[in-house]
Amino acid sequence: MKIIKVENNLLKHLISKIRDKNTDSFLFRKYISDISKILLIKFLEDENLVYKEIETWIGKLEQPFLEEDRYVFIPILRAGLPMLDGALEILPNSKAGFLAIKRDEETLESKIYYKRLPDLKNKIAVILDPMVATGGSLSLAIDILKEENPEKIISLNIIAAPEGLERLKTKDFVMYIAQIDEKLNDKGYIIPGIGDAGDRLFNT
Ligand code: PRP
Ligand code: URA
Repeated sequence: MKIIKVENNLLKHLISKIRDKNTDSFLFRKYISDISKILLIKFLEDENLVYKEIETWIGKLEQPFLEEDRYVFIPILRAGLPMLDGALEILPNSKAGFLAIKRDEETLESKIYYKRLPDLKNKIAVILDPMVATGGSLSLAIDILKEENPEKIISLNIIAAPEGLERLKTKDFVMYIAQIDEKLNDKGYIIPGIGDAGDRLFNT
């Protein structure tokens, strides 16, 4: 695992907004979507551009483009869903795949209950999940995606616990992370964290 910590004032501001328990679900979803755009912009700084000829008002010109169709965004349901909205707002011609993973609240073991992925060969698989607590869900997602042979696996995450990062350190992927918090509590929640992201997003 390679970790790229993304830091700027807007990101700090938005993380404080999602920590605030009085932020309602509408704004909570919007801020998570906004944060995912900032993480994505940072990741795209490291990506190749290809030159293509386009018609402009002054005639034909060769211009740089990202290879939008090489990116497959894969939100981990449920909490990754608003991150997909943000990513597809920036790159509307990219693809999406879906992994639904739920951790057992008692054992904290993660299980997959739905998978729908496009062909990942020669594609860049970009996992979207705001929370990395024990790291079990992300670890399972990476193992599942590896079987599909993507060119590389990237993960955009908002808040991680050190325990989760430790668990993931031998996995072959690059993580863009906005915030590394202090620890997990005895129920596997990130402290200080933001509480249960899925519940706050979907009023459950
Ligand atoms: C949350 C979160 C991550 C996972 C992180 O999902 O969105 O996927 O927990 O915890 P871990 O690192 O210990 O695996 P959850 O399982 O609560 O499902 P939900 O999004 O449907 O609420
Ligand atoms: N999932 C969440 O939504 N929050 C946590 O703190 C840990 C796992």
